[in-house]
Amino acid sequence: MYQSFFIKTYGCQMNEYDSEKLNDLLEFNGYKASNNIEESDIAILNTCHIREKASEKLYSDLGRLSKFKENKKKIGKKMHIIVTGCVAQAEGEEILKRNKSVDYIFGPQSFHKLPKILKNFDNNKVYNDFLCEDKFSSLIPSRSKEVSKLVTIQEGCDKFCSFCVVPYTRGAEFSRSVENIYAETTALVKNGAKEITLLGQNVSSYESSVFECGVKKKIKLGDLCQILSDIQGLARIRYLTSHPIDIDENLLNQHQINTKLMPFLHLPIQSGSDRILKKMNRKHNRSFYLNLIEKIKKLNKDMAFSSDFIVGYPGETDEDFQESLEVIEKVRFASSYSFKYSPRPGTPSSLKNNLIDTDVVDTRLKKMQSILNKYQREFNLTFIDKTVEVLFSGKGKKHNQYVGRTPHLQPVHVFSSRDIEGKLLKVKLESLTSYSFHGKLSA
Ligand code: SAH
Ligand code: SF4
Ligand code: F3S
Repeated sequence: MYQSFFIKTYGCQMNEYDSEKLNDLLEFNGYKASNNIEESDIAILNTCHIREKASEKLYSDLGRLSKFKENKKKIGKKMHIIVTGCVAQAEGEEILKRNKSVDYIFGPQSFHKLPKILKNFDNNKVYNDFLCEDKFSSLIPSRSKEVSKLVTIQEGCDKFCSFCVVPYTRGAEFSRSVENIYAETTALVKNGAKEITLLGQNVSSYESSVFECGVKKKIKLGDLCQILSDIQGLARIRYLTSHPIDIDENLLNQHQINTKLMPFLHLPIQSGSDRILKKMNRKHNRSFYLNLIEKIKKLNKDMAFSSDFIVGYPGETDEDFQESLEVIEKVRFASSYSFKYSPRPGTPSSLKNNLIDTDVVDTRLKKMQSILNKYQREFNLTFIDKTVEVLFSGKGKKHNQYVGRTPHLQPVHVFSSRDIEGKLLKVKLESLTSYSFHGKLSA
């Protein structure tokens, strides 16, 4: 019987959620979480395949772990090495070929089988079915007492952007049932959660149904936000990540009327050039995106936006890049991520050969990031001397210091002699360091 396990998580919040669920399942089955991967009996790597750098991390970590495994073997101890997540799904058997010390491979929709497999060893080493239903019904309620929690409501993607591995690693779109999400959220709130972030690779295409007086009613993301906001004690709802073409009237209406729904939207555009957006198979153009932002701002003047950009997509010219910068100048994002294009195996864009010179990509990325940082700072500076509601989720590094987030996700530090963890309090924002505020609790 194995006792201790360690899960290392790479990638996005979907993986963070999965790791927490796997952690709970293993503890429930009698295993103990360890705080050191090298000393653990079961080392689990929950991996990400989105860019080459992310997936190569797996192999460097496996190299190190297999040495630990060998050393343990010499002193009669065992170590099991398990790979799960998106690289497990995408590369399956390949991982075993590249590193013989791996014992089992579980795709992101099969990790719930791990406790059973560890008990009844199996000859099969690779588990990568696309069975979301099975996964979600096997999860156990969280005992976490954290203030802000993630809840996966949707998995997979049917959009097939030409650069992206997600439709292949997470499979077709699947939406969890309303009952299931409601039960999980209620349990989290009972344990002390005040904020939930509804997660999905394509969360705005969430679609499920409920029966009302015997009649089947379609439930979209907006309806779900409305339903969840009735949970007493839940103060804030967020969702992540949305595709612009799926933002419907129902969701927009919620941003107008639902005060628990935070006025912050992560809305990736990827490029500001229509020519590149078409090649990316994004299904929206630049003016659709900009009009949508304008429409949302009109409905709720507090709304702020963040985005994702890919720099150096095959064939991206200086003019195309300039158009991405123009979008940034127009929207003035509150924050954003920007990535160098990375060709991913199996994606349509990986077959293109008009790759952009790495020096050009580096220069473009640097330029974009400095402009994004400028607007992030500008956005933050508009909050100085304002009083905003902050949800405190934990302690800071200094004595009596607490850390929380504003409705726009800006981190805030304050000092307080009483314990304010889990409290939603008004704070006057006094100063800004690079990305976070220092403030004073309002009397
Ligand atoms: N579902 C989300 C994105 C999920 S992946 C959406 O539709 O936007 C997160 C981000 O990684 C993407 O928004 C994109 O900017 C980036 N990304 C995805 N594939 C990439 C690749 N091959 N190279 C570089 N960045 C990539
Ligand atoms: Fe990837 Fe596009 Fe799907 Fe987002 S919408 S997960 S970028 S394929
Ligand atoms: Fe990475 Fe998979 Fe998330 S590829 S970004 S861990 S969905």
